[in-house]
Amino acid sequence: APMGDFITGLPKAELHLHIEGSLEPELMFALAERNGVAIPYANIEEIRAAYHFSRLQDFLDIYYAGAAVLLTVRDFHDLAAAYFDRAAADGVVHAEIMFDPQTHTARGVSFDTVITGLLSAMEEAETKHGMTTKLILSFLRHLDEADAFETLEAARPWLDRIAAVGLDSSELGHPPEKFARVFAAARALGLKSVAHAGEEGPPDYVYQALDLLAIDRLDHGNRSLEDPVLVARLARTAMTLTVCPLSNLKLCVVDDMVAHPIDRMLRAGLRATVNSDDPAYFGGYIADNYRAVEAARGLTRADLVTLARNSFLGSFLPDDAVAAHL
Ligand code: ADE
Ligand code: ZN
Repeated sequence: APMGDFITGLPKAELHLHIEGSLEPELMFALAERNGVAIPYANIEEIRAAYHFSRLQDFLDIYYAGAAVLLTVRDFHDLAAAYFDRAAADGVVHAEIMFDPQTHTARGVSFDTVITGLLSAMEEAETKHGMTTKLILSFLRHLDEADAFETLEAARPWLDRIAAVGLDSSELGHPPEKFARVFAAARALGLKSVAHAGEEGPPDYVYQALDLLAIDRLDHGNRSLEDPVLVARLARTAMTLTVCPLSNLKLCVVDDMVAHPIDRMLRAGLRATVNSDDPAYFGGYIADNYRAVEAARGLTRADLVTLARNSFLGSFLPDDAVAAHL
């Protein structure tokens, strides 16, 4: 079968997906109308035309502005339902999705509204697509520690539905150490943890995420490759890296897909995975990301199988469920 069909047909887990980043221009436009929210675009083409970024912050400004159309339980449900439908079509059988509650609570949308909509779409996806799902509450690192603690407090009634906490948004100038106490509190509540590190930030931020946040999984991690001692540690500890090739290209973390380090990561013994990050903004869902690195780096079918296998090994599924996917 052609490589594209092989990739789509490969059962895989998605471990790095911001649900707000799956808001397609069509749905953004429809929700803006449904909710009477003004957006700075006259039509869908104008929205797409705005998606040119030269660094992470360029994207974040547009991503937070786009999220302003999300107001009701139904909006969050529709957003996530569209993502699960699209992911299922790409062969995703397990998805661990991140959400940014502070993006919404700052606009007066309650934590409960956001999570109620997301959870209903997760339940629906489990029946409709036979997939399993988990939810990761991500803190915005450009906000302060107190704001993160308030968010963790808002999550208290929902802890049995949340698998982990995460850390995202503007990396440079907001090192992991800023959130060491929040992550310790989350861990004490029984949550796992992930953090974006080494996307734009230096290897030192990856060390901080490991040593001060005690992360269970590393989001991106690209710049770890600058430090051979760090690479050896990540390999030895079987740390999962959730790599996002199309995101890396659009945010200029790599200059060209032919220079993407995914295969170097695998050869270095890293447990690398391929994910879509913010598919509505970066030009593709998970199978597009697999295809992009396969084409640019000449990955073999064995490499693609390794990437998919790593996605289950790096998931927060219980051991017996992981084993059933291998
Ligand atoms: N929020 C959504 N996508 C992100 C990314 N790639 N890096 C940091 N924060 C994000
Ligand atoms: Zn991300």
